[in-house]
Amino acid sequence: MKNEVFELNRRRLAEKLDDNSLLILFAGNAPKKTGDEKYQFTPNRNFYYLTGINEEDHIFVMEKNNGNITAKMFIKEIDEEKEKWLGKTIRKEEVYEISKIEEVSYLGEFRPYLNKILNESIEKTIYLDLERDEFSSFPSISSAFGSELRDKYANSNIKNVFPLMAPLRLVKSNEEVEEIQKAIDITIEGVKSIMKNIKPGMKEYELEAYFEFECRRRGIGDYAFKTIAAAGKNATILHYVDNNSEAKDGDLILFDLGAQVNYYNGDISRTFPVNGKFTERQKEVYEAVLRVNERVISELKAGVNFLEMNKKSREWIAEECINLGLIEDKKDVAKYYWHSIGHSLGLDTHDIDNPGRNTTLEPGMIYTVEPGIYIAEEGIGVRIEDDVLITEDGNEVLTKNMIKSVKDIEEFMAKC
Ligand code: GLY
Ligand code: MN
Ligand code: MN
Repeated sequence: MKNEVFELNRRRLAEKLDDNSLLILFAGNAPKKTGDEKYQFTPNRNFYYLTGINEEDHIFVMEKNNGNITAKMFIKEIDEEKEKWLGKTIRKEEVYEISKIEEVSYLGEFRPYLNKILNESIEKTIYLDLERDEFSSFPSISSAFGSELRDKYANSNIKNVFPLMAPLRLVKSNEEVEEIQKAIDITIEGVKSIMKNIKPGMKEYELEAYFEFECRRRGIGDYAFKTIAAAGKNATILHYVDNNSEAKDGDLILFDLGAQVNYYNGDISRTFPVNGKFTERQKEVYEAVLRVNERVISELKAGVNFLEMNKKSREWIAEECINLGLIEDKKDVAKYYWHSIGHSLGLDTHDIDNPGRNTTLEPGMIYTVEPGIYIAEEGIGVRIEDDVLITEDGNEVLTKNMIKSVKDIEEFMAKC
């Protein structure tokens, strides 16, 4: 992406910061896996959103003093010995090219800089990314740093920048939409390849490999999440990722997958018959889910509250479950559907959002629409997921090139 994009993101955030404040964001680093092996590095998304830099350990700082904004990067010192093993790290002049940040220092200068500012200032607001993190067993770099600051500089006022980032990141720029569209288009190629190559008796992981092949050959280095390739009853487990069962003749198979392009994600679910032809019952369930998918998409536009849409769509799925003979009372829908209708999509697959996804839609937002019905006792799980951009006059389905009607699926698979 052009470096102006990151500069604009910084400017928009700066308007929301208190005056006489300092924002400190850490790129992060990859945790150890085992031995001398690490997990793949992925940058802190707020750091990336404001800098475009995707290397470990760097620190981004933005000062706001009397309305004046200064952005600074503290980058790793050059270590030529290490570079023989791991490759070059970013150079000072490259920081400007990527992020349009002019002031660049080495990490060793960060502490003296911080001490100077905090010792000189009577009271300073310090913004850190204190994302609530129930998924991690360790404190994040930011939250450990926050604890240290509270101990050392009790006069500093530590605030969480995360809620200020949400309204910004929710509305995507044209450049961000382009990245997400690229991720989606590659994901679609992957799903089509699976549909072309699937045969009864194949393992779920063999099918996953067709997706990964289409991604890797197009340069994809990471995924939106671990691919779900779930045949038959496995599709009734929402986050089934073992992908080691057989795709049997007569089963449906559910894929939920996404490529990632420059940290922007695609997120698609499609369900189809392993042998290319739906049974009557499979078709009934599939079309029930598809009706809800299409109904939600037809209603998504600026001004709609996503939380309200979630409630409404649960009602629609409940009605479909009654018609399918699964339940008699709408309140029992949770037996066959127990997730949200969708989520904001962007730099995170479940992207930053307002608390409870209580967001009124605006042009530029991208939400997934992913109703499902999961009937364990019949070995049928169906989810159909599209990614939808809210526009000035309605919406645009970014996943529209991925077929989803029974007729289109059967025709496509018959041709292969
Ligand atoms: N597989 C994650 C999601 O669709 O939300
Ligand atoms: Mn998904
Ligand atoms: Mn999703």
